[in-house]
Amino acid sequence: MPDYPPVVPRIVDPDGVDASPHPRAMPVTTDESRSATAAETGGEPLLDFEGTSNPYIDYQSIDLLLSLQHPRSDGYDEMCFVVMGQVKELLFRGLHFELVNAQHRLRADEVGDAMQILGRAGAFVDYLTSSWDVLSTISTEGFNQFRDTLGTASGQLSFMYRHVEFVLGNKSQRLARAHRNVPHVWPALEEALRSPSLYDDAIAVLARRGLAVDRGALDRDWSLPYEPDPSVEAAWREVFADPRSDNELYRLGLALVDIDQRFSVYRWRHFVSVERIIGYKPGTGGSAGVAWLDGVTRHRFFPEIWATANPA
Ligand code: HEM
Repeated sequence: MPDYPPVVPRIVDPDGVDASPHPRAMPVTTDESRSATAAETGGEPLLDFEGTSNPYIDYQSIDLLLSLQHPRSDGYDEMCFVVMGQVKELLFRGLHFELVNAQHRLRADEVGDAMQILGRAGAFVDYLTSSWDVLSTISTEGFNQFRDTLGTASGQLSFMYRHVEFVLGNKSQRLARAHRNVPHVWPALEEALRSPSLYDDAIAVLARRGLAVDRGALDRDWSLPYEPDPSVEAAWREVFADPRSDNELYRLGLALVDIDQRFSVYRWRHFVSVERIIGYKPGTGGSAGVAWLDGVTRHRFFPEIWATANPA
């Protein structure tokens, strides 16, 4: 157990921060204006600015971002937990952006663009997975020093994570429910719950390219959990029976199952880190802890593509 107290350096005076979440006004530059500035400064960086901020701070509201880390205990490990929790939310945000855009490329039948985007999405998932390298330096004793301050807060209440699950197709009306009372979050999550997922759009591409997909897989209540469909499995089998690098649908299937595999590794790293840190104690969010996580860790987003590895 870290038996030394944390020193939390004060980086930003919160009273000076413009706490608006909206983008701040700032000037744009051009190649010409940048050349003129470099000529004026003799090639040295700009160091004097008007007002109480500078363009680097304003472009991404960095002072606001760096004033949001508030450990609530004297436990040494809490700062690491807070920073990594926030980093992961940002990475989920980045991943979600890529997945939604891949989905839009599929809707436009631009399968090549979608696969390019999925390449970056996979890199995001790997980055998320490696966040457990840092988080698993938190020991059981170190976690216990601040665990009570979490109250009933739990990752299962992450609406950003829920968006990622929903765009990938793991819909749950039950888990979405936790956000119904948050008016600035619920409408987008409810819409995601009720909309087709990336996988639903991939299946629609298969149908548009002439593969026989049953009506029920192309038009259904999207808010219900995905159920494997025999016609979708048959379609993917047909696609995988032609494993040429210039078969775009084959490469799409590979790109999707690759994301699924990487996400499984992410979930597994969470699962084993949790098992190591809290053992078989209940979670802060009300669940049984690892026993509950065991179920969600086994989830696969695109079951019919996994099935193509098995004999028909
Ligand atoms: C390092 C210490 C951590 C422990 C001991 C831990 C433990 C748990 C437990 C026990 C659950 C089950 C739900 C419940 O709380 O009852 C859970 C779920 C979850 N945790 Fe963690 N967690 C940790 C860190 C994190 C971090 C840093 C994140 C990311 C921000 C995270 C994201 C999640 C998510 C998204 C779920 C829901 C999984 C799902 O719905 O499939 N966890 N966690």
